[in-house]
Amino acid sequence: TTETTEWSPQQVTKKHKKARPFCQPVLDHFDEQYREELGDLWTSVRSALLDPHVWQYGVMVNRFTAETNLTQVLQSQGFFKFLPQTDVTKLRCGATSLVSNVKYHSAEDCVSLPRCISKCPPDDYRLQPDITSDSLSQDFESELSPSLPLSSLQCYIHPYPVRFPAQAHRPGQLKQYYLLNAASLLPVLALQVKDGEKVLDLCSAPGGKAVAIMQCATPALLCCNEPDPHRRDWLSKTLESFLPQSLSSRVIVSPRDGRCFGVRSATTYDKVLVDAPCSNDRSWLYSSSHQQGEQRLKERDRLPLLQAQLLRSALSAVRPGGVVVYSTCTLSSAENYAVVQTVLNEFPEAEPEDLWEEVAVPLSKYFAFGPARPDHGRTPYQPVSRPQKSAVSAGHHTLGLLVVPQLGKAWGPMFLSRIKRRK
Ligand SMILES: C[S@@+](CC[C@H](N)C(=O)[O-])C[C@H]1O[C@@H](n2cnc3c(N)ncnc32)[C@H](O)[C@@H]1O
Repeated sequence: TTETTEWSPQQVTKKHKKARPFCQPVLDHFDEQYREELGDLWTSVRSALLDPHVWQYGVMVNRFTAETNLTQVLQSQGFFKFLPQTDVTKLRCGATSLVSNVKYHSAEDCVSLPRCISKCPPDDYRLQPDITSDSLSQDFESELSPSLPLSSLQCYIHPYPVRFPAQAHRPGQLKQYYLLNAASLLPVLALQVKDGEKVLDLCSAPGGKAVAIMQCATPALLCCNEPDPHRRDWLSKTLESFLPQSLSSRVIVSPRDGRCFGVRSATTYDKVLVDAPCSNDRSWLYSSSHQQGEQRLKERDRLPLLQAQLLRSALSAVRPGGVVVYSTCTLSSAENYAVVQTVLNEFPEAEPEDLWEEVAVPLSKYFAFGPARPDHGRTPYQPVSRPQKSAVSAGHHTLGLLVVPQLGKAWGPMFLSRIKRRK
């Protein structure tokens, strides 16, 4: 079903948030670590993180909803599109019925389709493991309806911290937009998903990046994996709210521990996104109690191990020639550069791709990127002996990009690294 709500300018609000208390133990910990890692930059990042009044929100438009005056309202309020792309003629999403009944084949033990959570196959349900990539692509070619709206990732941002109202869930109607930290689109952009590819979103809930992937292209398969049952429900609801019924055969929800994909689905996917569980700096600063903050800090040291395991699993699950994007929403170099470096040390066939020219340079007008410091790779792990090229080149880190929140560019924290598996 498509949405036809008209938007009135009055609905655009400048949200006046009450001052929220931050969690002192977390701030003390960050002060110590990030002053060392970011140097003077930490002072301005800290100010942006501690002042919710300066936080900005992006509005990602859902290509699967009918055209309304949403974009005019956004523009009249000073929002603008920041992603380089062509405008598309929006086609109506009557596609919901036109491309239904697409057969889905996968080697995965998918458990649920987003639109039929209550009608999931039983736990031991297995889909055909013998389908080749080629046959999937052929199926895809013949089944992709020309009346699906053209792919286009469109996100509006505002120069000031103006917040567009969230859209309430209405059964049977797709949502027109998703509010997000615009930096979370950068890992999706870096993934460069194309129509017909097989994509794995290894750590998927609540599903913002999965929805963004589906704006960029129409993959043959998008496997959204989330092991936590509550978060998986949330993920399913997100997919249900943003994607038409016709895509429910291409977009599946899987419940596995992401660490087992490397063995169970080796060389299966064209693209894998590892949006890893991490210390979410922004939300940790606002932990609901000191105890919660302290507990999180206690468990923090264990995260790099899990993140490295997930990244290894992703590199095994991607086909030769395929691409993995690793991302987090923390500034911590132990969870970012160090994880990437550790895993690269073990994977001679994995090659990091420098995203500076492709992503950072064109977007530096809107986003602030962190400095390159050779010691960003410092880690509790001991690097293996494979000789490394220098991780810093021409003043930027070649292993990944770090988006750092600043006044007027209050996006992030977000780290992203793209790794290609050589053929
Ligand atoms: C940063 S969040 C992902 C956000 C999501 N990609 C989005 O854009 O909405 C990380 C997710 O990883 C999940 N996770 C934790 N451990 C995992 C594991 N072993 N395998 C896969 N996912 C895991 C968490 O439950 C959490 O939902």
